[in-house]
Amino acid sequence: MIKKIGILTSGGDSPGMNAAVVAVARCAAMYDIKLMGIKRGYNGLLGLSDNPEDDIAELNLETVLDIADQRGTFLRTARCDEFKKPEVQRQAAQTLRELGVDALVVIGGDGSFNGAMRLCELGIPCVTIPGTIDNDLGYTEQTLGFDTAVNVCVEAVRSIRATSRSHDRPSVVQVMGRHAGDIAMRTAMATGAEMVVCPEMEWDTDELAARLNGLIAKGNTRATLVIGENCWHKMKEFDWRKFLNDNGKTIYPGEPLNAERLASILKRKCNGIEARATVIGYTQRGAVPSASDSAFAFEAGHLAVQLLNRGIANQAIGLRHGQVFNMPIADALSMKKHFNRELYDLINKL
Ligand code: ADP
Ligand code: F6P
Repeated sequence: MIKKIGILTSGGDSPGMNAAVVAVARCAAMYDIKLMGIKRGYNGLLGLSDNPEDDIAELNLETVLDIADQRGTFLRTARCDEFKKPEVQRQAAQTLRELGVDALVVIGGDGSFNGAMRLCELGIPCVTIPGTIDNDLGYTEQTLGFDTAVNVCVEAVRSIRATSRSHDRPSVVQVMGRHAGDIAMRTAMATGAEMVVCPEMEWDTDELAARLNGLIAKGNTRATLVIGENCWHKMKEFDWRKFLNDNGKTIYPGEPLNAERLASILKRKCNGIEARATVIGYTQRGAVPSASDSAFAFEAGHLAVQLLNRGIANQAIGLRHGQVFNMPIADALSMKKHFNRELYDLINKL
């Protein structure tokens, strides 16, 4: 019989984490299970704060009543490198046992899932909910926060396009996603962007410039290139520093390539067209969760408690064909993420 469960959010915060906490709280209350909120990811299990309440505190329905549509994560989050050490994991499991916490819900990305697996091995039943804007987990169609992040990017591209159109300027827009191009791809499709560059695919500045020149020749002087962060290592070899230095823009050795410099390169390869760059950044993480993320959070939180209450643990919750489902965390993590090459090619040639 489960009497007390813990919940934590870990890794980068993502819209919908709070909604998932509320769903878990409501469902736990329904089963008469106490809920402990663990603060700042796995850090909360390490007894780092002077006041223990700053690490772990009971959550009741009143405490979390109004947080579902709040931005950020109420429980706070962190990247806790210490927790990768086996002795620290053992100490965390011991802390949970001493507090009488029978099981844990972990909301985060693949790193956080790995942490949950280690705790399962140490006898703490865990269920994980995918919380990351990156949508970089192969086993699930959606992660909490992805839909919201895309909506932020779509809104941003629409605004950028309005000013681009006014000035006849193409735009480079950089979105997040870590090593996954999902946010870039979906944003590009939803906004009708003419070009997309993702960290999964090799790309070439000459090809981008040829595409842009072709668009300009047809009268499209406000084209949008959406790029996923971390795409730089996939750029086809090109001495871009020399190119820019030879073409009137000083670049010092060691300076990295970025969206602004890519815009400068395109300007110089496209007859001086005034390409501009925008990096959307953390607004993607700090937005109010969309209806889709909030509804997924509701179902996922509910399923997490149901599983633990039935004694089923070591499970990752995801979405498949629009339905919530669960599978063993290790199997979930071993599923390779599919990159949709056909859509990628389509965006870049339509
Ligand atoms: P995400 O969960 O979004 O992928 P990270 O990769 O930063 O984010 O991981 C979040 C946290 O999960 C880490 O700071 C650490 O506390 C924990 N974690 C990550 N990898 C492992 C691992 N291999 N073993 C145990 N804990 C891990
Ligand atoms: O994983 C979510 C994410 O926002 C990624 O898209 C991004 O690469 C990373 O986190 C940024 O991390 P930090 O908050 O440490 O800057």
